Amino acid sequence: MNITYCKGYEAMSQMAASLVNQEIEKKKDLLLGAATGSSPAGLYAQLAGQGAEDPACFGALRIVKLDEWGGLPENHPASCEHYLRTRLVDPLNIPPERYLSFQSASPDPVAECARIQAALDASGPIDLCILGLGSNGHLGFNEPASQLEPHCHVARLSEASRGHHMVQALSDKPAFGLTLGMRDILLAGRIILLVWGENKAEPLRALRAGKLTTQLPASLLWLHRRVDCLIGLP
Ligand code: GLP
Repeated sequence: MNITYCKGYEAMSQMAASLVNQEIEKKKDLLLGAATGSSPAGLYAQLAGQGAEDPACFGALRIVKLDEWGGLPENHPASCEHYLRTRLVDPLNIPPERYLSFQSASPDPVAECARIQAALDASGPIDLCILGLGSNGHLGFNEPASQLEPHCHVARLSEASRGHHMVQALSDKPAFGLTLGMRDILLAGRIILLVWGENKAEPLRALRAGKLTTQLPASLLWLHRRVDCLIGLP
């Protein structure tokens, strides 16, 4: 894992954007795995700005949504769908056939995960996966546990996840999430882990210890050959 400390959020976002561009230059129809939350928002703003100036540069880019809150209406402002549509998918003019996305309000979340898995198996693996670090060390909604799931699955959310700022204000917080699994993430050709926020000190300390444990899903990233961990200093 290549760990880099960046001087502030903007510098972290810029560095991530240059890595994304490096990969898109090599592969125009890159499949990008996209996390949500505060950590990648600056990166997506950079890419959106770039897309506005030069729409052709993302003309073949494909996106897969990393995870989603279960049970929220698709257009709910707290949904990952709303987040990615407004920050990335619409600004970069990604058409439906180049965007793979869990439906948050699917009546059958297990079947929805199977649908995404089949589509990912057919069009994947992910070329470049953008991840954030959960305050409990989760990746997507792969929560700390004695066993982790390799593939897309419905995940019961930890209290840490239910306290995430995206859903903090909701009176009825989601009890479950839909997420890519650890294998889906680890099969990515390259991974960028963005670490931003005061609540990341503890999982970052544990991650930096360099040991593998399912109780810290992010620690499995040490198994991957090409991970850039970009840490934004306050
Ligand atoms: C959330 C999401 C993840 C996100 C992570 C970190 O719960 N499920 O996709 O990467 O937690 O979020 P943030 O960047 O806001 O700290």
